[in-house]
Amino acid sequence: MMRAYLVTVALCALAFSLASASDPSPLQDFCVALKDSSDSAVFVNGKVCKDPKLAKADDFYFGGLNIAGNTENLQGSNVTTVNVDQIPGLNTLGISLVRIDYAPYGQNPPHTHPRATEILVVLEGTLYVGFVTSNTENRLFTKVLNKGDVFVFPVGLIHFQFNVGKTNAIAIAGLSSQNAGVITIANAVFGSNPPINPDVLTKAFQARQECGSTSSETILI
Ligand SMILES: *[C@@H]1O[C@H](CO)[C@@H](O)[C@H](O)[C@H]1NC(C)=O
Repeated sequence: MMRAYLVTVALCALAFSLASASDPSPLQDFCVALKDSSDSAVFVNGKVCKDPKLAKADDFYFGGLNIAGNTENLQGSNVTTVNVDQIPGLNTLGISLVRIDYAPYGQNPPHTHPRATEILVVLEGTLYVGFVTSNTENRLFTKVLNKGDVFVFPVGLIHFQFNVGKTNAIAIAGLSSQNAGVITIANAVFGSNPPINPDVLTKAFQARQECGSTSSETILI
């Protein structure tokens, strides 16, 4: 009985030691994702591999990152993603890329990547960037970055970039996942589908509701 218990404990410890904080390492040279009809389906943890003999250079290629995204939107920014959905050869490799364009005073609003650390380099312009640590301190780290400057946003932490210059800004960022995921805080909390019960949001954000207002008119104080 005791022996079975000890074996169970040992197996659990082994399972924990095998757990990894980033995407799993490849078990072969590559595992080009097989195109499926929707190209966004996820199988177990990643995508099914194409027969390696059928792999071709284009499976590892994406063109067009020289083209700016359209920043004519409310945030004044645009993220062009180059992940496993654009480059099937990224499957299992634990890495991807984005180009971020910012209009003057545009921002990439506070968001997190649940599966990736991000390393960002500014190609043009001046960005005020920052991230906040988890709840033990909620400490804010910020920096003003100019062309050629690099900054890191640790995995899972809420971060942002704001273009403080009068010109367009451009950044390229590497992410330590083939599919980093993104949770934009305001959209997830205030724009969920269906909406979160306004009583929950009112208490969470210590806001008050105006008499007769609808949930979308909750006033922050
Ligand atoms: C980002 O830019 C692309 C290409 O111009 C455009 O199709 C897309 O709608 C833009 N996204 C947003 C959120 O503005």
